[in-house]
Parts: sequence; structure tokens; C-alpha cells
Amino acid sequence: MPLTSKIHLLEEKSLKAELGGGQERIDKQHKMGRLTARERIKLLLDPGSFVEIDKFVTHRSYDFGMEKTKFLGDGVVTGYGKIENRLMYVFAQDFTVFGGSLSRANADKIIKIMDLAMKMGAPVIGLNDSGGARIQEGVESLAGYADIFYRNVRSSGVIPQISAILGACAGGAVYSPAITDFILMVKETSYMFVTGPDVIKTVTNEEVTKEDLGGAMAHNKKSGVAHFIADNDEQAMMMVRELMSFLPSNNMEDPPQKICTDDHKRQISKLDNVIPVDPNKPYNMFDIILPVIDHEHFLEVQPHYAQNIIVGFARIGGKPVGIVANQPQVLAGVLDIDSSTKAARFVRFCDAFNIPLITFEDVPGFLPGTTQEFGGIIKHGAKLLYAFAEATVPKITIITRKAYGGAYDVMSSKHIGADMNYAYPTAEIAVMGPEGAVNIIYKNDLDAEARKKAVDEYRENFASPYKAAQLGYIDEIIYPHDTRLKILEALEMTANKSASNPPKKHGNIPL
Ligand code: HXC
Repeated sequence: MPLTSKIHLLEEKSLKAELGGGQERIDKQHKMGRLTARERIKLLLDPGSFVEIDKFVTHRSYDFGMEKTKFLGDGVVTGYGKIENRLMYVFAQDFTVFGGSLSRANADKIIKIMDLAMKMGAPVIGLNDSGGARIQEGVESLAGYADIFYRNVRSSGVIPQISAILGACAGGAVYSPAITDFILMVKETSYMFVTGPDVIKTVTNEEVTKEDLGGAMAHNKKSGVAHFIADNDEQAMMMVRELMSFLPSNNMEDPPQKICTDDHKRQISKLDNVIPVDPNKPYNMFDIILPVIDHEHFLEVQPHYAQNIIVGFARIGGKPVGIVANQPQVLAGVLDIDSSTKAARFVRFCDAFNIPLITFEDVPGFLPGTTQEFGGIIKHGAKLLYAFAEATVPKITIITRKAYGGAYDVMSSKHIGADMNYAYPTAEIAVMGPEGAVNIIYKNDLDAEARKKAVDEYRENFASPYKAAQLGYIDEIIYPHDTRLKILEALEMTANKSASNPPKKHGNIPL
């Protein structure tokens, strides 16, 4: 064959591979409001930076007449490229080829880039759009998934792993994302379920729509499986880029610092008036968080789930930080099962990837009741305690108002290793609120006037930051307007923190 023909053949094969399952299926994908695997990669990565690997791989199945239907690339596009000039590995399942289902060959492509990512210390971004295990390949496909799961686990805490769910994902296509660090879904076009509505109807006779069962809102609001929600594929890719801007490439690196154009030392006078005079009145914790961080720019994680706790990424003085904050506006900021597990997972992520933790605390305690107790609040609340205690990154805590009971200990207290613990003058640090305390200490022995006096006395003596400051449990009582300045000082002071847990195989977090 002459050289020109050989080059022509490569071109021809390349174009064929890029067409995936063909124009008709691409059109169908677009009609469903979804982009193709290649279009998504193009949006995700810096222009022109994508390098494809294994473009001509095909499946090796001979059952069910599969040998007659082969597509170059076999339903997944894999390779590497850059986000803000940093190396990233990517796989994007191509729904136009066998519904993006996972064949042995297709799994081997994903495994190859996962192994490269571990060797090079760079993140893996999975763009998932797959019907799960390729049914025609049986156990070979299951083996492919297990090989991916194994690598997901080994990579966990070493390199960031991000999953975007961009279509109807079932079976193995949801378990791999579940092991990764963050899951992003798209409104009305993405679904996650272990078994779909039809199987549910057969097994339990329950009727449920695809959207209610595994739609973006179901997992962002109800199950807590997903962390972010986008309006469409384009926005989803931008959100992944933004998330990556806060994360280091691996656990040996610090997160990417940016030049801070926001005044480092600015005082924020409006913070002096955020905490209401009445201690039982709610306020919005975002009124404290946003003015304190650089340019009020906050990437909230799981904004729709367990809204009584806020978690997310921000920069302070250009340095990425993880923020954990009770939200007095929702359920009075109480800790319950969902908020504890939400925050615990976030704290562990930040700790794994060297992101300092800033905790804003206003918590009346753990939520009482049989639903919580039978649901295992003891075990789930302990997760948050464990996560904060285990974290060795810089930990800075600001108690704005209530720090009651066990929740005081849990929320990054001095006793579990926080480096700087601040309190506002409005802080109330005690075993419980004054009314509850007086009820228990005096039972029903007091008349109304004596009870009021006892409550006032308790509030004066115990529900303040001064007792804790006297004992050194609070390092400094600060003016709210100095919050940003104080956090910056503490971040600077802890910049070279070197702390580690005792050598062990791994701890035994109460799962
Ligand atoms: C082979 C598949 C496939 C699969 C879809 N296709 N899923 N081919 N293996 N798993 C094919 C379809 O046959 C169809 O081919 C094309 O992809 C598009 O699928 P449609 O059904 O037309 O699309 P849609 O209506 O959008 O529905 C998407 C879907 C549905 C919800 C994902 O296809 C579906 O339910 N698929 C099966 C899901 C499943 O049960 N997977 C196995 C999970 S078990 P044609 O040629 O007709 O266009 C698993 C085990 C892993 O993953 C272990 C975990 C621990």
C-alpha cells in the first residue's frame, strides 16, 4: 500500500472512531438534551489539550452475534488533557455505542488511564453515561467493573476522583462513582440507580418514575449520593473545572494557591450585627461566611442536602480552604444523622488533600428523638467526631454563638486537635441551654421568679465564652469584624503544620 493510502486509512479510521455509534445515534443523544462523549471532553479540558489513547480498541465478544457489530473505541473515549494547565486523566462513556455499557475491552481502557493517573499523581475525571455491565459479555464485564472498583479504592485519598453523571447510569455505572470523591448530576437528563423502575415494580410492586427514583434532585436532596447539580452538560463541565481549581493534583501536593486580589486585612463591620440579641432567634450563617472569604466566592458542596450544615470550598488570602458551618437558619443548626455524615465525608476529603478546615460553629446539640436514635445518630454523629479528630490539616474554629453539649466537642474543638479556637463575645459554651440546665438542676422546685433568676444566673456564668477562655479551651475572644484577619493570621501561623496520626493500617471509623 503506498504511503498516502496508509495515511488516508489512518484518517478514515480516526474519523470513523470519532463518529462512535453513528450520526443517527448522535442526533438522538442531542435530542435528549445531552452532548456526546467527545463534545463533553472538549468543553471540560483546556482547548486543544486532549490526547486520546486507545482510539481503535474494539470489543472481543463472540456471543449473541456481537462479532458482527464492532465500533472503534468500543463505547468509551479515554485519554489525558489539562484544566487550567494542570494534567487530568479523563474517560467519557459514549452512549451511542451499546448504551455506553462496559465491555472487557472498554474496562481495560478505563483501567489504563486510572493506572497512569496513579503513576503520574493526577486526578481522574469520569464522564459517566452508561447502562452498566455489557449484558452480552456476562462475567467478563463484571470483572471489568471489579477491576475499576479496586482501582477507585486504591486511588482514594491519593488522587482526586470526580464523577459526572450525564445520562441514565445503572448497575456498575453507579458503584464506581459512589467510591469517587464527588458526584455531579445534570437536571432532567441524568439518573442513577442500582435497579431501575421496571425491576422495582416486579420485585416490590412499587411504582416510581425514573426522575423520582434516581434523578438529579433525588440524589442531591434526598439520598445525599450526589454533591452538585447542573442545568445541562455545558454547565456540568464548567462546574468540574471550578471544583478542580480548589483541589491539588494528589495527596502530596498543596492545593493550588491563587494571587489574592481581595484586601487581606479588611475589617467587616457588618459582622458585628449578624448575631441576634435574642439567642433563640435564627440568622443566616452565610451572612458570616461570604463576607469573610475572598470575593464572597463559595463553592458549596451538597447545597440541597442536610441544609442544617454548610460545607464547601473557598479561598482566604488566595489559599483554598474547606468550610464547615452549622446553619442556625435550618433546624436551628442542630446536628442530625444527615448533617453529621455530610460534614464527616467533607472533612475527610479536605484532610486527605491538605486543605485547611475552617469551622463556624453555632450548634444547639444533637437532634433528640426516636427517629434519630433508631437511625443510629450515635454512630453517625461519631463519624463527624472521628473525622475532625483524625484530621491533621490546619484546623481553625470560630464559635459564633451556641456550642452546646457533645456538639461543642465534635465541632473541631480544642480537645480534638484544633489549632486555633476563636469565639465571638456572643458565644455560649456550655453543657446545654440555660432553660434546660435549670430544669434538670432544680427539677420543679422553683417558682416562676426563682426559675427566671436561676436561668439568668446560668446564662451569665456558663453560657458565655469566658469560662472556656479562662481554661484555655478558647485561644482568643475576637471581635466579629476581625474574623477574616484572625483566620488569615491563623492560616499563616499553621502553614507549616506537621502533624500525623500514629502508624496504623487504617482506623476503624464507625461506618
Ligand atoms: C448492553 C446496552 C446496555 C447494557 C443499554 N444498552 N444498556 N447494551 N448492555 N447494559 C443498549 C440498548 O440495548 C440499546 O441498544 C442502547 O444501548 C440504548 O439503550 P436504550 O434502552 O434504548 O436507552 P434508554 O431508553 O435511554 O435507556 C437507558 C437505560 C436502559 C436505562 C440505561 O438501556 C437500561 O435499563 N439498560 C440496562 C441496565 C442494566 O440493567 N444494566 C446492567 C446492570 S448490572 P440498541 O441497539 O437497541 O439501540 C451491572 C453489574 C455491575 O452493571 C456490578 C455492580 C456491583
